[in-house]
Amino acid sequence: MAKTVLITGGNRGLGLCLASQYLELEDCVVVIARKRSPELDALDAQYPGKLHCYQADVTDEAALARVRQQMEADGIDTIDILINNAGVWLDFARYDFEDPAWDVRDVDRQLLINAAGPVKVLHAMIGLMKTGEKQVVGISSDTASVGGIDRKCEFGYCMSKAALNMSLRVFENRYAAGGFRVYAIHPGWMRTDMGGPQASDDPADAAADIVALLAGPKPSQTFTDRKGNPMAY
Ligand SMILES: NC(=O)c1ccc[n+]([C@@H]2O[C@H](COP(=O)([O-])OP(=O)(O)OC[C@H]3O[C@@H](n4cnc5c(N)ncnc54)[C@H](OP(=O)(O)O)[C@@H]3O)[C@@H](O)[C@H]2O)c1
Repeated sequence: MAKTVLITGGNRGLGLCLASQYLELEDCVVVIARKRSPELDALDAQYPGKLHCYQADVTDEAALARVRQQMEADGIDTIDILINNAGVWLDFARYDFEDPAWDVRDVDRQLLINAAGPVKVLHAMIGLMKTGEKQVVGISSDTASVGGIDRKCEFGYCMSKAALNMSLRVFENRYAAGGFRVYAIHPGWMRTDMGGPQASDDPADAAADIVALLAGPKPSQTFTDRKGNPMAY
C-alpha cells in the first residue's frame, strides 16, 4: 500500500534522492524545503499529484505550523515516515579552534538547524503520526559518536549531531509504547554539496540503502549506519 513520506531538505542532495526513490515506489512524498529546485520541479512534473512541496525553514516553528495546516487542507492526514534530513555543515574541517577565520557563532547556527530543527518538525507533525507506519528518522552522522569521535574541530557540527541522536532517544522513550520506530542513521560520506566531490559514496546509493532499511525489520539499536549496523554512541 502506498505510504506518505515527509522529507525535510528534499530539494537537493540526499533528501532529493530519497524523494525520488519513494516516488518511484509510488508513495506520496511531502517535501519541506526553504526553496524549490529545478530537480524538484522535474519530479513534480514526472509524478503529478504525488509530490507535495511546502516552504519552511526547519528552525521556524510558526512556518512549520502553517505547513501542517496547509497539509491538512490539502487532504494529507497521515505521515507514515518522517525523515529529518535537512542539515548544514558550517565549521569545515579546515577551521582550527584558534583559527581567527572560524566564526564561533556557527556553533549556535548548527545546533539550531541540525538539532533543534528536527525536534520542531516532529513537534509540528506528531499529530499526523498517530496512525500509519509511525517511523521517525533522523539523518545523523558518524560525527555524532561521543565515544568514537576523532575530530579536532567541527565543534558545532559534531555537537549538533550528538544532540540530534539524544533527541531521538528521548522521543523513543516517550513514544515507543505507541508503536513508533525511531532511527538515527549515518548515511556515509556522500557526493553532495555538503560532502563534496571527493566523497566516497553516491547519495542515490545511500538513499536506496535507507529506503531498504526502513522497509525491513528495525535494528535493535537506534543509531546505525545505513545498512543497519550499530554505531557507537
Ligand atoms: N554529505 C555527507 O557526506 C553527509 C555525511 C553524514 C551526514 N550527512 C547528513 O545528511 C543530511 C543531508 O545532507 P546532504 O549531504 O544531502 O547535504 P546538502 O546537499 O548540503 O543538502 C542539505 C539540505 O538541507 C537543507 N537545509 C539546510 N538548512 C535548512 C533549514 N534551516 N531549513 C530547511 N532546510 C534546510 C538544504 O536546503 P537549502 O537548499 O535551502 O540550503 C538542503 O536541502 C544532513 O543532515 C547531513 O548532515 C551528510
